[in-house]
Amino acid sequence: MARARSSFVCADCGAVSAKWEGRCAQCGAWNTLQEVVETARTDRHRFAPLAAVTPVQRLADIEAREQVRTPTGLDEFDRVLGGGLVSGAVILIGGDPGIGKSTLLLQTLASLSTRVPVLYVTGEESAEQVALRARRLGVAGDAVDVLAEIRLEQITQAVLEHKPAVAVIDSIQTLYSGELTAAPGSVSQVRECAAQLTRIAKQTGVTLVLIGHVTKDGALAGPRVLEHMVDTVLYFEGDTHSSFRLVRAIKNRFGAVNELGVFAMTDRGLRGVNNPSALFLAGHARRVAGACVMATQEGTRPLLVEIQALVDASHAPNPRRLSVGLEGSRLAMLLAVLHRHAGVASHDQDVFVNAVGGVRITEPAADLPVALAILSSMRNQALPEGLLAFGEVGLAGEVRPAPRGQERLREAAKLGFKRAVIPRANQPRQPVEGLLIHPVDRIEDALAVLSHSDTC
Ligand code: TYD
Ligand code: MG
Repeated sequence: MARARSSFVCADCGAVSAKWEGRCAQCGAWNTLQEVVETARTDRHRFAPLAAVTPVQRLADIEAREQVRTPTGLDEFDRVLGGGLVSGAVILIGGDPGIGKSTLLLQTLASLSTRVPVLYVTGEESAEQVALRARRLGVAGDAVDVLAEIRLEQITQAVLEHKPAVAVIDSIQTLYSGELTAAPGSVSQVRECAAQLTRIAKQTGVTLVLIGHVTKDGALAGPRVLEHMVDTVLYFEGDTHSSFRLVRAIKNRFGAVNELGVFAMTDRGLRGVNNPSALFLAGHARRVAGACVMATQEGTRPLLVEIQALVDASHAPNPRRLSVGLEGSRLAMLLAVLHRHAGVASHDQDVFVNAVGGVRITEPAADLPVALAILSSMRNQALPEGLLAFGEVGLAGEVRPAPRGQERLREAAKLGFKRAVIPRANQPRQPVEGLLIHPVDRIEDALAVLSHSDTC
């Protein structure tokens, strides 16, 4: 009889603890530790190496073939994937409920099915529901195989029998392996199922797409180990209330990260948006205080996003700092820099910042536009017409350059922007047509643009 050992794994961060605790010592989340029973395995063949013989080789002698990619036929999805699906790759795609994961993957499979065999495994919806959705989407389903199943063993058998080139598992949290007693969706089940499926993908060359649920705060439910196990991690972003959806690559062993695919949800499913740069501008009828447009670079594409700030007198002992779509810790840092280096005090003010359209901006180049929007709101004075900004702000108050400044400026000029407040190091050698550049070295220089808004 195999000896069972149990450990406790945090469902948020994947940290392992020997005993149960109310709070994860690693990430500080409450009540996330789940028991994982590990049985010492006797069936060692399951962990046999992938190839029969694996000799030690010189790196230079290893024959490296260019990965063959199968384009999905959805241009924006191919863009995030790095050109298409790679045989044997495992892709994890996460996102809020109802954001369009099942829709996107069903469309993808329908498009692929004219060229390669595909399999859609659904554990969330019945086969009829999937068929109904396909009808609504108007996609041809005559070559899409559907399996409504949650038992891992049955699914792996179907994959081995039908030999699809691409299989979608909707979703990994619904699967369960009969070898474990834990409930579907628990850490041990998700881990075991993902590991088994990954193994099948590597062995047979089937491209696997695992759909994953996310927790309240947007992280993939189930342990972080899932992200380490797979080749590519994609996240759906966007506001479910607006029709735009973004798919971002967080990790990609076969392409660039931070590449962004932009879609619009229509009544016939998701449609790619080829030219999204002006999508995230609020389009005010006239200039308003507290808004600053930033040029951000997402993967290979510049994107213009409006940053909004609201600064208001606080009546609480601890003024609120809230950021939506931007990093909260950078906001706190920026307020300190503004106070220390530019004399802008906000200790008795609530500060809210927001990136329009549900887009998430992680690059530090958002600092300068956030600072400008905050000051603009504080003074209740709109920024000059047609102004945009980007640049990282350091703790010493210096403004640091952002990568690929030229491309950002060109895109802004194309969309009719007239002024740009940018780090001096990003100043282009040749002037950009139609764009007046204000190169700045320090945060206080940038804020001066607002004070002299009538003269510049
Ligand atoms: P879905 O793909 O089921 O989301 P997920 O699998 O991520 O939970 O998307 C469901 C949402 O998309 C639902 O709110 C309705 C909307 N939708 C459309 O607007 N048009 C369509 O053609 C389809 C199929 C769905
Ligand atoms: Mg779904």
